[in-house]
Amino acid sequence: MPPDENEIARAVALLQAGELVALPTETVYGLAADAANPIAVRRIFAAKGRPVDHPLIVHLAGAGCLDRWARDIPSLAWELAEAFWPGPLTLVLKRTPAVPTAVTGGQETVGVRVPGHPLALALLRAYAAAGGGLGGMCGLAAPSANRFGRISPTDAAHVREELGDKVRLILDGGRCQVGIESTIVDLSRDGALPLRLLRPGRITPEQIAAVIGVWPEAPQPPSAETAPRVSGSLEAHYAPATPMRLVPSARLAEVIGILRSTERRCAVLCHSELADATAPHALVSLPVDPQRYARALYAALRELDQTAADLIVVEEIPATPEWAAVADRLRRAACGAGLPADSLNRP
Ligand code: TXA
Ligand code: MG
Repeated sequence: MPPDENEIARAVALLQAGELVALPTETVYGLAADAANPIAVRRIFAAKGRPVDHPLIVHLAGAGCLDRWARDIPSLAWELAEAFWPGPLTLVLKRTPAVPTAVTGGQETVGVRVPGHPLALALLRAYAAAGGGLGGMCGLAAPSANRFGRISPTDAAHVREELGDKVRLILDGGRCQVGIESTIVDLSRDGALPLRLLRPGRITPEQIAAVIGVWPEAPQPPSAETAPRVSGSLEAHYAPATPMRLVPSARLAEVIGILRSTERRCAVLCHSELADATAPHALVSLPVDPQRYARALYAALRELDQTAADLIVVEEIPATPEWAAVADRLRRAACGAGLPADSLNRP
């Protein structure tokens, strides 16, 4: 479906006026505001209930506007931009003085990406053509369009559920194709090598190494120092309201049986066949393919979260590199949903 020009014009006018607009990207839906306008950016934090020291990603129509936002851009960053933009890769770079501190959470760096969704790109281009917000900076700050700590939306209806009355316009671009948030790499450190992976995503370390010949360092475990820098680095994140627990494939039927025998309603997210006799309270089965699994993951968690289950049981996924980004989201969701770890052993 070609982007609706009236809707885009309305979105541009709202953004120029400092209002919030939800927009689809190829990863998840974002809650956008003029990144050069600190008042507009503060509205994002208020709508999400997000702590103000968590930096936002700035979305651009193309790498051509990158130097308004970032300085001392290393050649590796240009190579990655050339290879993966538009697409699900965020680069963390040193910021220019023009970047409001409200966007960076007070840091000297800024996260930037060019999203791959045609509607997001059409909006960013129209926004730039209309002057591009304060100072003609042409950047839209857009975190995922969910309340803080909750599951990212991959469908316009999810945004309505999360933020309905808090956003003036929701652009509907259908289901997000990637389904989990962008890969983030930090290229802001002096000496530039090795670059650091801050958040795993669809673009893998292997793909990055194939372009620039350098493997990014693995994400660091969260610490008091790093936690505010990447909100995805908080252990409790991307979480359903229902408690959630990861269970190995071999124990799945047994755990469901234990829950049923204690009359606890169990919602199951699996990728292998369940025997008919297992019959959980609710069931979503996802494909055993990391990209297709990722695409459907958040919608599945959202659906299971609404079944009034006592517990969401998720079948563990393969422990291989191609599942790393999904594994990261599942681990955090289970942690954020907050069930005491040993409760299934004492039914
Ligand atoms: O796919 C995505 O990246 C989506 C879509 C909407 O573009 N956006 C998204 O935004 O996931 P959000 O705010 O939910 O997550 C952005 C992440 C946070 O973990 C934040 O800490 C990190 O990016 N980030 C942003 N700027 C940063 C910086 N300067 N240094 C380190 N981390 C940064
Ligand atoms: Mg988020």
